[in-house]
Amino acid sequence: MEDRMENKNEMTRSRKEAADRADWWKSAVVYQIYPKSFQDSSGNGFGDIRGILSRLDYLTWLGVNVLWICPIYRSPMVDNGYDIADYYHVDPSFGTDEDLDELIREAEKRGMKILMDLVVNHTSDQHAWFQEALKDPEGPYGKYYIFRKGKDGKAPDNLRSYFGGSAWEPVGRGDLYYFHAFAKEQPDLNWENEAVREEISRMVNYWLDKGIGGFRIDAIGNIKKNLTRSYYEPDGEDGLAYAGAWIQNQPGIEDFLRELDEKTFRPHNSMTVAEVGVPAERLEDFIGENGFFRMVFDFSYTDIDVPETAEWYVPTGWTVKDFRNNLFRSQLDTRKVGWAAPYLENHDQPRSLNKYIPEEDIGYYSASMLGTLFLCLRGTPFIYQGQEIGMTNIRMDSLADYDDVASVDQYHRAVQHGISREEAMEALYRRSRDNGRIPMQWSGKRNAGFSENEKTWLKVNPNYLNINVEKEMEEPESVLHFYRKLIALRRESEYADTLVYGELVPICPEGGAESEDVIAYFREDAGRRLLVACNFGGKEQKLSLDAAVVNGADAALQMREKQMILDNYGKTRWEKDGILCLHPYECVICEL
Ligand code: NOJ
Repeated sequence: MEDRMENKNEMTRSRKEAADRADWWKSAVVYQIYPKSFQDSSGNGFGDIRGILSRLDYLTWLGVNVLWICPIYRSPMVDNGYDIADYYHVDPSFGTDEDLDELIREAEKRGMKILMDLVVNHTSDQHAWFQEALKDPEGPYGKYYIFRKGKDGKAPDNLRSYFGGSAWEPVGRGDLYYFHAFAKEQPDLNWENEAVREEISRMVNYWLDKGIGGFRIDAIGNIKKNLTRSYYEPDGEDGLAYAGAWIQNQPGIEDFLRELDEKTFRPHNSMTVAEVGVPAERLEDFIGENGFFRMVFDFSYTDIDVPETAEWYVPTGWTVKDFRNNLFRSQLDTRKVGWAAPYLENHDQPRSLNKYIPEEDIGYYSASMLGTLFLCLRGTPFIYQGQEIGMTNIRMDSLADYDDVASVDQYHRAVQHGISREEAMEALYRRSRDNGRIPMQWSGKRNAGFSENEKTWLKVNPNYLNINVEKEMEEPESVLHFYRKLIALRRESEYADTLVYGELVPICPEGGAESEDVIAYFREDAGRRLLVACNFGGKEQKLSLDAAVVNGADAALQMREKQMILDNYGKTRWEKDGILCLHPYECVICEL
């Protein structure tokens, strides 16, 4: 009887594993490119597609196999391409449509897939649909957007857009307004209109038919609105209220998302990763077997330093324990229903080293530790350009040095809130999205090798002389080489299967580790148990492994030397009874 049960479990397990393997994106490592800042090939101070092409060999060497390219469609660039004026063509500042076709082909030759950015909650106000809508708000294109009448010269309600100010913009015709969740140059599309949904599906299929691997999907939780009131309790000096509660994951969104998946992504077996915060109880709808997407990004650990209403200047006072709890909760909740998309950085985040590590401790050890912690998690890891060399935040001299609309808004809101200008600048240094958008640091040459032009669209971080790809390539003990090893472990080592498909078992999930600053977990499958242990602090720490868990401490002790897989100090110490002594920011991957 027990044998039969065991066989049945085996069969279920192998069926499950086979299904996992059919989902090609599960074993991928994604590298995110912010094209404007990656590599300038034309010498005008802006990155472009030919610049990306020139760096494909580097990306091949690094070992990643999916490239997420932030929007390269035609755009007036109010929000750096997240305001699209034409979904079918490349913006001339990035190159030509043919350059993009070449990028897709050249990537394919190297075994890489391209993930495009899909921005369909809104368009640019320069999109032909919106221009037509302005001419005739009552006409067919007027129904592509959300127009409402105001009252007594006031907007239809007092919701605040994510980038500050009213979410309603008057169109200068009587008392008509249109809704925009983000900047006023980004009018929201009306997903209730079937014609809009059809246009979007057609466009998505156009790109998928070109052979791209799939999409990262922008702000998709916002496509369904619940805008029935004319007044909300204000939560700021501006008399406005945070819109999130009324335009995020509203009931009925399921129908739109399911329809989109069925008409586009699913038939193409595409990788999709949605930018949408989903509570655990709704995760199954989003990423379960019949979910709308293959993955979603979880903000609970990356936005740990900002309050829910997203004011960067209000510190949250988070601790390593909070961070660990959020990270493990995210992993375990996701595991119950689907696949995760762990990430440390993206173009909306400051650099992870500045966020998670005290300034004086930023360096090789802390950067390799963060990389290890994230690249060994369960799910498809996303690496953001420059993360692999340990790029850091930049100190700008004045507000005028910032380009990001959200940063400018946050600065003014901070000042309006009574915070000094110095503190507001400090908040931008900590949190501005431009920290992640400054030019990639390739070498010690002019403009860090990013551009031959005298000026670059955003300033280059002066620390490029120390932190750059060329230099780190020459140093075997660099953050870059460490990342390369981590990627290889996941993609082509004997441990790859366990690291990709194995279970993740947190060690002391409730913070019961001997030290609050240790974050450790097992990755395990039927054949292997790997320990990933990270000291997230600047002091020595001990991690005591329960003898029962590791199958007898002695066994662990005997095996430890030959089973060390990767670590950043090269001198890991074990004490008796399976106690692991970790140096400041030490990370260890070993087999037990
Ligand atoms: C999320 C994108 O990541 C961000 O950069 C953009 O500003 C907003 N969505 C609006 O599209």
